[in-house]
Amino acid sequence: MSAEIFDKVKGLLKEIQDAAPDNTDALEQFRIRFVGAKNVLKPLFGEIRNISNERKKEFGQLVNQVKQEAEAKFNQLKAQVEAKAEEADAGALDLTAPGEPLELGARHPVSIVMNRIVKIFERIGFVVAEEREIEDDWHNFTAMNTPEDHPARDMQDTYYLQDSTKMLLRTHTSSVQARTMENNQPPIRIIAPGRVYRNETISARSHCQFHQVEGLYIAENVSFADLKQTLLYFAKEMYGKTKIRLRPSYFPFTEPSAEMDIYWGLENETDYRITKGTGWLEILGCGMVDPQVLENCGIDPEKYSGFAFGMGIERQAMMLYKINDIRLLFENDVRFLNQFSSAY
Ligand code: PHE
Repeated sequence: MSAEIFDKVKGLLKEIQDAAPDNTDALEQFRIRFVGAKNVLKPLFGEIRNISNERKKEFGQLVNQVKQEAEAKFNQLKAQVEAKAEEADAGALDLTAPGEPLELGARHPVSIVMNRIVKIFERIGFVVAEEREIEDDWHNFTAMNTPEDHPARDMQDTYYLQDSTKMLLRTHTSSVQARTMENNQPPIRIIAPGRVYRNETISARSHCQFHQVEGLYIAENVSFADLKQTLLYFAKEMYGKTKIRLRPSYFPFTEPSAEMDIYWGLENETDYRITKGTGWLEILGCGMVDPQVLENCGIDPEKYSGFAFGMGIERQAMMLYKINDIRLLFENDVRFLNQFSSAY
């Protein structure tokens, strides 16, 4: 009896050692037979009591060895079969399958609109001027005829740099006017796009950071009629609108000052809503450069005159693309931004 059962266990051991399953089905058979919950080795442990005392230990060790070899072999085979299956998968790679679609980037709507405005003015001889965003008080305010304690300073809530009351984040691109005039004599014909900052509560209509485009033209005999024609040209090119009006307004650096509206029309409900039922939309601020500003910046007001205008780019983008919340322009949600991939 003893010898027989020893042979049986040794036979199983050999079977385990010789086994070479090379696919998942064969491996599963191996698992069920040697390591599964009802494997053939389990009942052998119960046989110990039938073994003669002097061979009990030997038998126990043998059965344990078989069990361990079965487990080790299974783990090794499993790794082999898995590796093989992976290889087979790789071999099945279809090189003719279409590729993953390529995500195309899109220009930001603010950039699109900014470029568009710049192009329009470049066509009539304006050149781009760029300047710093951290400005001193002189170029942002004083040179622009807004000295300290001038009430007009309240029109623009200013971010001052922490360690200084004289340095600030520019509140408008008009500071570029001051710097350009200081360094150049007329004729001056610049368009100045850039980012500006104001300490304002963020809402659907206002933001603490936005972009403006400023225009400045200074030469001999520049008149209000020149300003009006230039703005009419802009309204046509930008919006395809042919009717504008200039409403008297106030800016410290221009005299007279005006706000330009374009006649948007009242063709549908949106038109009614955005023009508040008037058909007119406010587009920008403008005016004849105040002689005091020319003088502050080293230009002879007796000889030269000029006009300036400034507009918020986000506002233009909102009108052009019918965006009703300025915050969408700063959140950078790709679902929003993707919609501009076909714009230029
Ligand atoms: N700087 C003005 C603003 O920020 C706009 C403006 C520019 C008005 C130039 C007139 C002339 O509101």
